[in-house]
Amino acid sequence: MGGTSDVLVIGGGLMGLAIAVDLQQQGATVTVLSRDFQAAAGHAAAGMLAPQAEELPPGPLQTLCQRSLALYPDWVEKLEALTGQTVGYWPCGILAPQFTLPANPTGAATAPRYWLDRSDLQQFQPGLSEQLVGGWWFPEEGQVDNRLLMQTLSMAAQTLGVDLQTGVTVKGIQQRDRQVTQVITSVGSFRAHHYVLAAGAWARELLPLPVFPCKGQMLSLKVPSGYPQPQPLGQILYGEQIYIVPRQGGQIVLGATVETVGFNPNNTAAGIQQLLAQAIRLYPELQSFPIQECWWGFRPTTPDELPILGASPCQNLTLALGHHRNGILLAPITATLIGRLIQQQVADPLLSAFAWDRFCSDQSSTAALLTLPATPATPMQLADRPLSDPNLSTSDTPLKIAGRSFKSRLMTGTGKFDNFDDMRHSLAASGSEIVTVAVRRVQTNAPGHEGLAEALDWKQIWMLPNTAGCQSAEEAVRVAKLGREMAKLLGQEDNNFVKLEVIPDAKYLLPDPIGTLQAAEQLVREGFAVLPYINADPLLAKRLEEIGCVTVMPLGSPIGSGQGIRNAANIEIIIENAQVPVVVDAGIGSPSEAAQAMEMGADALLINTAIAKAKNPIAMGKAMGMATAAGRLAYLAGRIPVKTYASASSPLSGRINS
Ligand code: GLY
Repeated sequence: MGGTSDVLVIGGGLMGLAIAVDLQQQGATVTVLSRDFQAAAGHAAAGMLAPQAEELPPGPLQTLCQRSLALYPDWVEKLEALTGQTVGYWPCGILAPQFTLPANPTGAATAPRYWLDRSDLQQFQPGLSEQLVGGWWFPEEGQVDNRLLMQTLSMAAQTLGVDLQTGVTVKGIQQRDRQVTQVITSVGSFRAHHYVLAAGAWARELLPLPVFPCKGQMLSLKVPSGYPQPQPLGQILYGEQIYIVPRQGGQIVLGATVETVGFNPNNTAAGIQQLLAQAIRLYPELQSFPIQECWWGFRPTTPDELPILGASPCQNLTLALGHHRNGILLAPITATLIGRLIQQQVADPLLSAFAWDRFCSDQSSTAALLTLPATPATPMQLADRPLSDPNLSTSDTPLKIAGRSFKSRLMTGTGKFDNFDDMRHSLAASGSEIVTVAVRRVQTNAPGHEGLAEALDWKQIWMLPNTAGCQSAEEAVRVAKLGREMAKLLGQEDNNFVKLEVIPDAKYLLPDPIGTLQAAEQLVREGFAVLPYINADPLLAKRLEEIGCVTVMPLGSPIGSGQGIRNAANIEIIIENAQVPVVVDAGIGSPSEAAQAMEMGADALLINTAIAKAKNPIAMGKAMGMATAAGRLAYLAGRIPVKTYASASSPLSGRINS
């Protein structure tokens, strides 16, 4: 279908267009494939240029952001000159007012910043909350009108002769011998000498890169007509869970929630309420301003929240994605560095910090992109030996579920403890970070569940609401939704996890595979991170993974039976084939069985009865935590093969014969 261009860019959002403009200006012929221009994260943003206000720690990302900020004035001037359009660039500075004194108001910073005390702050920006004690002023930061920027970039690309193909869905990237050979789309195939993947939060539909959506909800207010000034705010206000971005034309943009809910669309009442409450708390003037528009978008996020930039395992494919909260700011530097890499084969040294293979723990097995794991490779030392020890090969990655990292691989339950004190101490002793709660039993105040949800500190542990007691798919979907509300009410706004249990059988408590699959399909569609409890059925596990479940949870033996791992052969097959974490759930009765499951290669365990009903649940919690960690370490260390005959412990060669 398409002719051959020098470069084919997959993704017509901010990064794709910025790169296309840069390359075309350097003399390349460029085609851009865009599925849905309006869905791009660049449209949803507020347009802040805020490396300091965003509190990025010193390091490669802060450096990248500062370099991009420095490029901004020339970059927008170029785009405006090309198109005759304005992008609303406004170096207005950012004010970060504080309700409590920061620990170090005069401390070092990576760029100039100034502390304003209460009276300076009120003079500088009248109308702020009387409760504020002062604020930081970041004079070098500012904003661009991101929607104007998107339109201008699109126009600039077309003015320069970029072939911008809109409404085109890329279905596959064909590879051969570490080269991309063509791109298959809804309107036919496209070929180029070089390819760029800039598909934002949707990149994972094409390659198994660890990029996932992080939803942000936003809204805008209008400065009321008849107000003394067209825009009462002279700079951006950056507060707790809120930023308030004034546009010169009299609009005020409020953002943004941070939600891990997949591609779950829509504004929610809770999301908008959170933004309005925080904004009015900071700048009470806003309470009478009319609401103009609400919207949402999906930030492209990686496990370490750094972008993926530069080379890929295919020699003619370059990656530019995962800019998370800083896409608007990072557009000029991304275009510059990627443009230089492709056209001049010059790799800026800074790019090495953003290489895709930082997510691969086994560098030798990464010849094909298909081997990319979905988990980060932040090394976590499991032994006391120094990391520099060449014999230490047991570094681990955290357990990663739906983009969230956990150090502990033991999940625990909350039912069956004799009292809440035992429960709290046992959970603490076990080191568990994920704790499951039976939504139905909590909501109906079933025996032992009255006040249970409030008895735990949900700032410390991640709630895994479960649908225990549901006998059908419909019931489970309904209870999952109640669970999500329960997590929200208890402060976990972004918790979309659900442990899915559909159990019609009261005697063996075996899950219904068909009902589980049906409910999982529905819940995944509705944006839940679904962790289904299943019999150890490898085909069902694969099917659940394919429809988007974030783990599979095969049972070792019936719930509460303490019979241990009775399904070892099938669990091994599930582990061998799974690309999502395998959590062995139910039946584990003792620490040795916990270790056994982990030695088999399970990614995590869920244990309730064996801990809660032990004579000493606190000691047993600790023992189970240790056994889980020991089993994991043993799995990583690699056990010896089983042999039929003995093999002497001391070598026989070199023996002294008398
Ligand atoms: N750049 C701010 C945000 O992503 O919400």
